[in-house]
Amino acid sequence: MWIVRYARQADLAQMLAIEAVSHNDPWSLADFGEELAGQAACCHSWVAAPVSTPSCVAGYMCFRWLVDEVYIINLAVAPCFRRRGAGMKLMNLCIRWAKAHMGTRLVLDVNRNNLSAIAFYRKSGFGAAREIAGGGLTDPLHKQFVMTLEIGD
Ligand SMILES: CC(C)(COP(=O)(O)OP(=O)(O)OC[C@H]1O[C@@H](n2cnc3c(N)ncnc32)[C@H](O)[C@@H]1OP(=O)(O)O)[C@@H](O)C(=O)NCCC(=O)NCCS
Repeated sequence: MWIVRYARQADLAQMLAIEAVSHNDPWSLADFGEELAGQAACCHSWVAAPVSTPSCVAGYMCFRWLVDEVYIINLAVAPCFRRRGAGMKLMNLCIRWAKAHMGTRLVLDVNRNNLSAIAFYRKSGFGAAREIAGGGLTDPLHKQFVMTLEIGD
């Protein structure tokens, strides 16, 4: 049902639209542009698209590869495509990619109030490692969980 491919400039308008309705602190065009510009180095931006319409962006994942770890820095699926497996397709391919590159773990931050994302990450095999303060130490609404998935032997 889904194909996953590298994001390209022509996807940016759709990615920005999904971003705007998916995150409280959405990335800008410049943020996405930086990730796409770094695709030859450690930055990876993938999109999931319906097999029938590969130019339609259903969701995306941006991650960075640092030494032997994958840091997932953005993940979102358009509301109309949620709960149809696009997020899991991106995640499973990322895990496969990390294993193929001899990675040891995948790491991400998630707002502790983002219960749907936490449920999604737990289903993907991630465990909550520790709580960190984000967006200001005094603001409990911005507390983040660091979640990790160990994949090394
Ligand atoms: C988190 C997100 C990427 C999941 O994408 P998705 O394509 O809807 O996820 P999937 O359809 O692959 O879901 C796989 C499993 O994850 C869990 N899951 C996903 N969304 C869930 C929700 N809202 N509530 C509870 N569990 C959920 C379920 O176990 C689901 O399997 P099921 O549908 O068979 O029950 C999507 O909800 C999203 O874009 N949220 C807004 C942006 C965001 O919070 N990103 C993460 C920031 S850290």
